[in-house]
Amino acid sequence: MSPALGTTDNPLRVAIVGSGPSGFYAAEALFRSETAVLVDMFERLPAPFGLVRHGVAPDHAKLKEAIRVYEGIARTPGFRFVGNLNVGRDLPVDALRAAYHAVVFCCGAESDRRLGIPGEDLPGSYTATEFVGWYNGHPDYRDRRFDLSREVAVIIGQGNVAIDVCRILAKTVDELKHTDIAEHALDALAESRIREIHLVGRRGPAQAKFTTKEFRELGELTACEPVVDPADLALNPESLAELEDRAGSTAKKNMEVLQGFVARGSKGCPRRIFLRYLLSPVEVKGDAHVERVVFERNRLEGAPLHQSARGTGEYVEQPCGILFRSIGYRGIPIAGVPFDARQGVFPSQEGRILDESGSPVPGMYVAGWIKRGPTGIIGTNRADGVATVKTLLADLATLDPAPKPGADALGLATESPDRRALNWSDWLVIDRAEIERGEPKGKPREKFTRVKEMLGLLGRPS
Ligand SMILES: Cc1cc2nc3c(=O)[nH]c(=O)nc-3n(C[C@H](O)[C@H](O)[C@H](O)COP(=O)(O)OP(=O)(O)OC[C@H]3O[C@@H](n4cnc5c(N)ncnc54)[C@H](O)[C@@H]3O)c2cc1C
Ligand SMILES: NC(=O)c1ccc[n+]([C@@H]2O[C@H](COP(=O)([O-])OP(=O)(O)OC[C@H]3O[C@@H](n4cnc5c(N)ncnc54)[C@H](OP(=O)(O)O)[C@@H]3O)[C@@H](O)[C@H]2O)c1
Repeated sequence: MSPALGTTDNPLRVAIVGSGPSGFYAAEALFRSETAVLVDMFERLPAPFGLVRHGVAPDHAKLKEAIRVYEGIARTPGFRFVGNLNVGRDLPVDALRAAYHAVVFCCGAESDRRLGIPGEDLPGSYTATEFVGWYNGHPDYRDRRFDLSREVAVIIGQGNVAIDVCRILAKTVDELKHTDIAEHALDALAESRIREIHLVGRRGPAQAKFTTKEFRELGELTACEPVVDPADLALNPESLAELEDRAGSTAKKNMEVLQGFVARGSKGCPRRIFLRYLLSPVEVKGDAHVERVVFERNRLEGAPLHQSARGTGEYVEQPCGILFRSIGYRGIPIAGVPFDARQGVFPSQEGRILDESGSPVPGMYVAGWIKRGPTGIIGTNRADGVATVKTLLADLATLDPAPKPGADALGLATESPDRRALNWSDWLVIDRAEIERGEPKGKPREKFTRVKEMLGLLGRPS
């Protein structure tokens, strides 16, 4: 008989798929438990940290400090990093399940929602996902080209990602050059001719999803100023009621910021951000390139905090040369894992992945954006990771108690010099090299943006 599962003689072996916040917080929760546990974290890129590295805006360095916590977790005895390995593509999920007592999928939401309108894919129309990945040096987006030669940009969506995209387009090179923005992006942005940015929401200013700190920043830019139609300050009674509700406190602060934008008038900046409300895109027009977006004017319908946008049948056109769709991310499937194609998540209950009949799949768990959908800040994933690990540990008695070999049995994390999978020491070599490359430019780091470069640095085949 095997020694009891979760004891030093038979530690619980867990594979975590994905090295973003939810993966690291799940690992932390496992290590903090009373159970003897070994954690192997699989990451498809050579570099860890998910959207903290490839999503958080380069000019928000403070928000990347979560990485220090993750580095501490990675130093915990019993933690192993297996980078540059795409689970489901390079390694079948069944092989992973056989080598571990449990697998926790923390693979985020790597695609985006679609508007589903004509012209959406015209040249010059991009997703926020690809633009964000590009300026943050994500290898998948390294070779994207963004035509920044036109003067008018439209951004659809009023969440924090839309505001990040807006700020990066609005800032001067001097405001960005000492951040960790990818060099290729800084070079392209230096040539940008964008002068007008329209940040368009389908609902009103009280419903925008911006957090106030981020919204206020739009008024603190060197060469760009926000422009607001004073008529947009007049809210319907339901929106006014929202501002009085505790749940509407961010909206209330955002409205104060908006009033401040109106009150201070124009400084005559060369770039301007037009805050536009109650407009839904219905078509993107242009012959061979985006030329204008047709919007339907909306009114709000519904009770306070549940108001939705309803078309009025009145249309307006906004000329534009570049369009960004920032209406939310979306999870993608992994072969061998149940997927809810409607929601773009792995179906789950209390962190247990469910099969088509709604029953838990033994030993399969989920946390983070691929569990909840693409909302929430870095810290939100901590409670989520903790909750999933609580469920996993509650299931301990139901897991196969036979000792499991972990990554060793997969022939991946060996010390052989020609292996392609990376370990944490490999990442630290890349990390140091990036920091050194950044120093002469006064940047915190200059990221490697191609997998080949990173593997080459380690003398590995690509
Ligand atoms: C543009 C943007 C900016 C943001 N800025 C902020 C901010 O400033 N502050 C803040 O608090 N929050 C911010 N957020 C939110 C925050 O980034 C998310 O809440 C958080 O990253 C979600 O964590 P996650 O672990 O679920 O997913 P992710 O961070 O996406 O991590 C998932 C990881 O899984 C890996 N992976 C995917 N598939 C596989 C596979 N098959 N095999 C192996 N590995 C795989 C991915 O490469 C990735 O590293 C931002 C989000 C976005 C999109
Ligand atoms: N600095 C930070 O802390 C930071 C930075 C970036 C991201 N994040 C977090 O990451 C998460 C994701 O951010 P996000 O901006 O991608 O998502 P989000 O906050 O959900 O915002 C999505 C925006 O798209 C709009 N939208 C959705 N479908 C639409 C459609 N069909 N037509 C027009 N508009 C549509 C939404 O409008 P409705 O409201 O009407 O649905 C909303 O304005 C959020 O929790 C965010 O706070 C945080």
